[in-house]
Amino acid sequence: MKVVVIGQSRNAQKMARFKFLEQNPGVEVEMVDECVIESNTGLLRNHQLERMGPDSFEYTPEYIDKLASANVIITAMAPVPSAAFDKGNVEAVCILRSGVENVDLDKANAAGVKVINAPGRLAVPVSEYTVGLVIAEMKNIARSYARCAQGIWDNKLPNRTYSINLKGASVGIVGLGAVGSRVAKVMDAFEANVLVYDPYVPQEAITAKGYKALSLEELCAEADVICVHFRLTEESENLINAKHFALMKKTAFIVNTARAGLIEEAALLDALREHKIGGAALDVFHQEPLPKENPYVGLDNCTWTSHLAGDCSNIFDITFDIVAECVDKRFKEGVWTNVVNR
Ligand SMILES: NC(=O)c1ccc[n+]([C@@H]2O[C@H](COP(=O)([O-])OP(=O)(O)OC[C@H]3O[C@@H](n4cnc5c(N)ncnc54)[C@H](O)[C@@H]3O)[C@@H](O)[C@H]2O)c1
Repeated sequence: MKVVVIGQSRNAQKMARFKFLEQNPGVEVEMVDECVIESNTGLLRNHQLERMGPDSFEYTPEYIDKLASANVIITAMAPVPSAAFDKGNVEAVCILRSGVENVDLDKANAAGVKVINAPGRLAVPVSEYTVGLVIAEMKNIARSYARCAQGIWDNKLPNRTYSINLKGASVGIVGLGAVGSRVAKVMDAFEANVLVYDPYVPQEAITAKGYKALSLEELCAEADVICVHFRLTEESENLINAKHFALMKKTAFIVNTARAGLIEEAALLDALREHKIGGAALDVFHQEPLPKENPYVGLDNCTWTSHLAGDCSNIFDITFDIVAECVDKRFKEGVWTNVVNR
């Protein structure tokens, strides 16, 4: 079996860690330098890849031949030309990302090539950040820091009459996927009551973990803290809207590190301005970067940050571990996991 690992100037050294796969009998790993001839679209490289796909770039014939000789191709950001599938050798393309724009999925499907990604690679940083935001908003950490930094010593912050602890609080998790599951575990460790709404996770699986499975409406009415962790799709846009804010406790606060479009912005702003809920902590916005003049300025019950939840310096290591385990499993057990185009 031949594995071709595509390295780019900035990650070649790190990508060479895939050489460890040669510990599997009969496996050869070849490193190749990405060789894309820049095309003339005027778009940034990643924007071109996301909007126009891998076949919008030009490649040298030698490079395509190298990739076509592989049984398994591993890439991080480099695009993979569909012409590499023509010889029928390629069994799978493994991508060190959640998105799979590096490959033309239709052409991969037609050629019977499995496309593998790194699901949940940001689950660790995003879940930890979410817990940080919950505590920051609940305990006034960011709010007090902002005052102190202006030379104001203020012990009478707006939520002092209803600021509580996680122990004994009801924390609602909307979306029990990679991020939501980790947040739920930490909340459980804090001795909070974990409430879950996720229509795609069987109720028994939720209750088996000791959590309470509820409808979204029930969760909104019961929770002291609501953490939003589902994906933005046509179906889920504005899923949390005015109807839900009307059900929430006056002291409840909502935390969004997922996508802004999941919560109806006008309803959220109305709930904050009119103090219909306790507060919010937000890392994601409809317009990013958030302009200086924006509707959150001046709110005394909102902590906001600059889409930072997924940031951490060891993200390559986390992603490498997910993909390395997947490819190693293929060589040891003959099965592929994390297949996107099943
Ligand atoms: N702020 C950041 O930097 C950052 C970084 C990475 C991911 N994210 C976001 O975090 C969110 C969670 O990511 P993840 O990796 O846990 O996703 P995931 O796909 O693992 O989990 C999503 C969960 O939501 C559930 N779900 C789907 N539709 C739902 C609905 N209508 N109502 C309730 N639940 C629903 C699914 O069953 C699944 O369990 C995503 O929105 C993602 O875009 C943000």
